[in-house]
Amino acid sequence: MDTIISATGICKTYKLGQSTLEVLKGLDLSVNEGEFVAIVGASGSGKSTLLHILGALDKADAGNVRYKQRDIASFSQKKLNLYRNGSVGFVFQFYHLLDELNVLENVLLPAMAKHGTIGWFSHKKSIKARAMELLHRFGLADRIKHRPYQLSGGERQRVAIARALINQPKLLLADEPTGNLDSETGNGILKVLEQLNGDGQTVIMVTHDDNIASRGHKIIRLADGKIV
Ligand SMILES: Nc1ncnc2c1ncn2[C@@H]1O[C@H](COP(=O)(O)OP(=O)(O)OP(=O)(O)O)[C@@H](O)[C@H]1O
Ligand SMILES: [Mg+2]
Repeated sequence: MDTIISATGICKTYKLGQSTLEVLKGLDLSVNEGEFVAIVGASGSGKSTLLHILGALDKADAGNVRYKQRDIASFSQKKLNLYRNGSVGFVFQFYHLLDELNVLENVLLPAMAKHGTIGWFSHKKSIKARAMELLHRFGLADRIKHRPYQLSGGERQRVAIARALINQPKLLLADEPTGNLDSETGNGILKVLEQLNGDGQTVIMVTHDDNIASRGHKIIRLADGKIV
């Protein structure tokens, strides 16, 4: 199996006034293509911090992240944007959908950003078809005109997953995707992630819940700033 992403010696310290908080202390991690990895750790152990660093939403103080053997620190700004919006799909714990847009528009947004105004018009038809296919697959075909605030939590999270997948990322990063949902709804989201993984999607999921983590094929435990 090929390694899709690896991190070596990741350190991250937050400074607040005089005090410093060492969150990640030389963390190493490697994930293969096609894996469904769960990263588990207590609240405050640095799971979100790590996921943000892997997705280039935040920068480590030391260490490096390699995506397909290439150090993302060596990427140009343009390539980094493509990485964030194309190679990686991010699912946030609190959905982060835009209430001003309907479901379909929310899902299309990363594709619009990727293609730019001119590119968007030439790709619009095929991208819309992909968005509709994803929404249909996630049981949201009759919700496309709804605004996020008109949806249930589970529906919102499925929209967020469709949005994360619209640009066909090789790597899906999910930060507590069930953290805000009741157990039955959360189970529905886990099933969606399992099905995606069954189709070959590499998934890294963060959770503080051992039961949820056990749904992953590999469990990585984060404690005291390192993988234990
Ligand atoms: N921007 C920031 N500035 C200062 N401290 C921060 C910042 N972001 C996170 N922290 C601190 O770093 C630690 C790790 O935060 P992080 O969000 O990565 O934890 P987590 O494992 O995701 O926790 P949870 O399970 O509660 O989501 C926490 O103690 C948090 O207070
Ligand atoms: Mg977190």
